[in-house]
Amino acid sequence: MIVTVAAADVPAGKPLAVQVSEELTLAVVRLDGSYYAFDGKCPHRGGQLAEGTLAGELLVCPLHHFKFSLKTGRCVMPKHLRLRSFPVRQEGELLQIELQVEEHAPRPV
Ligand code: FES
Repeated sequence: MIVTVAAADVPAGKPLAVQVSEELTLAVVRLDGSYYAFDGKCPHRGGQLAEGTLAGELLVCPLHHFKFSLKTGRCVMPKHLRLRSFPVRQEGELLQIELQVEEHAPRPV
């Protein structure tokens, strides 16, 4: 499944919330002309990362202020936490975010 977002809608310096379904809201972030998309639910206790803040290359969860690298998705501390990230491709003014099919989901024939 591909989710399309206008690049201009992603503000500088803060995440954009993109609701895909009841279960999934993305946090889409721009940094130095590159775009990143993550599952907006923090892997710690489910904080809403789209309501978080940016500190350089780090996305800071609003709930307990854990910091995650935009480039790797890894938490600075504790290191075992990692954001679920999705590939973003820019086509002109649009961003195409590819949501992978879950491994347990049936594959299309
Ligand atoms: S819920 Fe995100 S740091 Fe705790």
